[in-house]
Amino acid sequence: MTGPRAAAHAVVVAGARPNFVKAKPVLDALEAAGLRTTLVHTGQHYDEAMSGVFFADLDLRVPDHHLAAGSGSHAVQTAAVMTAFEPLLAELAPDVVVVFGDVNSTLACALVAAKAGVRAAHVEAGLRSGDRGMPEEINRIVADRLCADLFATSPDAVEHLLREGTEPRDVHLVGNVMVDTLLARRDEALARPVLAGLGRRPGDYGLVTLHRPANVDDPAALDGLLGALSEIAASCPLIFPAHPRTAARVAGRLPSSVRVIGPVGYLDSLALQAGARIVLTDSGGIQEETTVLGVPCLTLRDTTERPLTVTEGTNRVVGRDRRVVVTAALDTLEHPPPPRRPALWDGR
Ligand code: UD1
Repeated sequence: MTGPRAAAHAVVVAGARPNFVKAKPVLDALEAAGLRTTLVHTGQHYDEAMSGVFFADLDLRVPDHHLAAGSGSHAVQTAAVMTAFEPLLAELAPDVVVVFGDVNSTLACALVAAKAGVRAAHVEAGLRSGDRGMPEEINRIVADRLCADLFATSPDAVEHLLREGTEPRDVHLVGNVMVDTLLARRDEALARPVLAGLGRRPGDYGLVTLHRPANVDDPAALDGLLGALSEIAASCPLIFPAHPRTAARVAGRLPSSVRVIGPVGYLDSLALQAGARIVLTDSGGIQEETTVLGVPCLTLRDTTERPLTVTEGTNRVVGRDRRVVVTAALDTLEHPPPPRRPALWDGR
């Protein structure tokens, strides 16, 4: 006679800010389905502001393993995650590894799992900006080639995967787990005192986030964007939570109508988005969050891997030319787009 079958074991990998938000509902669902889960934090983001506050805000449990990979060039960071994850994976010998999104930790752990012969699942598969100048685009393409199960948030993502030769049976259109987290936490976020603490009220400010290397590491692009923000702030004061990559580069270069603060946690980020008249960003996740919140968003990039936020949401991709950005912002403040939300982005 054989004993009861051991529960399947899933290793869930999270490394950077946007991963934490997606890992929470998936961990909860895997556990509710009776799987054994192990949470691995790669340490790509490690600060209280970039990591700790997200665990607290999301009620994410303390990771079972922390790889302490830290910052570095792409090769250094990716290699640090791989080197630390390989022996851990051998020790854990799970049935499946789950990776999220498009950060270096995603690529690193998908690659280690594939070579170790462990089945890997990619949540948020198939997004493509078409711009291989973005490190995330490379991470997306490679992670999708390596993972056996591809969970997509939108029909365009499914199309990309099929066009690239993925078998239809490996692709699952499941909706957006980041939206699940958002809708579960929205009320709690709206009760946060962050706006009052900044002397603002809902609808009387705009929100800015910038952290893409193409925007903040390129002096000419950054000059144009800071010029645009200064002009827009004359019509609508702006709050700018600055990513560590960005903070030093913008210090002292903006008028007082652009209030630069440190990076904010998950709930405060939602609260700031929900109360904003307009959001100007180069983030991927914020394009989706603003769509779900019904807040107008201008994406300060030339492409988006999330076209549904444009065709079925509140997002406009406006690039980084100063005049174009200012014109689009003033137009959006005057004529905000109506809120609408893509199918399956329903919190379930
Ligand atoms: C990474 C992701 C990006 C995601 C972003 C969210 C990649 C290639 N990029 O970019 O897709 O949108 O996270 O924030 O994976 N730093 C700290 N504290 C930390 C972590 C980083 O101060 O806890 C600073 C370091 O100076 C580091 C810099 O931020 O060099 C950049 O961090 P890194 O993880 O390399 O990339 P992000 O720009 O955060």
